[in-house]
Amino acid sequence: MKRPLIVGNWKSNKTSTEMLSWIDEAVKQKEFINIFPGQMIICPPFPYLDLFSREILKHKLRIGIGAQDISPFELGAFTGEVAAEHVKEYASFVIIGHTERRKYFLESDELLSKKVAQAKRVGLSVIYCVNDEDMFIPDGVDVFSYEQTWAIGSGKPDTPEHAALVIENLKKLHPTVLSLYGGSVTKDNVSSYMSENCIDGVLLGGASLKFDSFFSLLQALS
Ligand code: PGA
Repeated sequence: MKRPLIVGNWKSNKTSTEMLSWIDEAVKQKEFINIFPGQMIICPPFPYLDLFSREILKHKLRIGIGAQDISPFELGAFTGEVAAEHVKEYASFVIIGHTERRKYFLESDELLSKKVAQAKRVGLSVIYCVNDEDMFIPDGVDVFSYEQTWAIGSGKPDTPEHAALVIENLKKLHPTVLSLYGGSVTKDNVSSYMSENCIDGVLLGGASLKFDSFFSLLQALS
């Protein structure tokens, strides 16, 4: 049976209090979470990586931790940047090249390749986002996520058939890289993506924010 990879990207959402309530609710469902037959990764905002990782450890929740971005530079005089070493203290994964980074911060393939190199230098696993099958995926990426710009946060997901076609084509060039579909995934449509052979998991935005919607999505896959 497939072990789905579920990545929750909280983006620039939540206060620390809201994050702690999410964890409280997860602790109540700990038994279910810890036997879920897939892997879960949550990517909180940078300032909460420390607290989130301590809480996850304290409650022995089987949830992996990811950052949402990383600096293209090493440690040093780069004001405001969060370097690979900083991320590595709290997380094992990092999302690079999310559509919102490309759209609002004009991140280029060249910059994103530098970010991937930094992440790999310290041993972080990279989840790399692309919008179509022609986009460049740098060497070293562990997971790619296919997400259509118009499907993100719109309630209008790409069809599982079309997502599978794009992902199959991407896998021809990157056969050992795991694949995710992202864009308006909910508890009601998640199984249709997971039933496509070439799709290894999903990247969630909105559906990961409230614990109950995240939990119902896991239940839909159990
Ligand atoms: P969404 O976000 O689930 O809110 O559409 C997905 C994403 O950012 O990839």
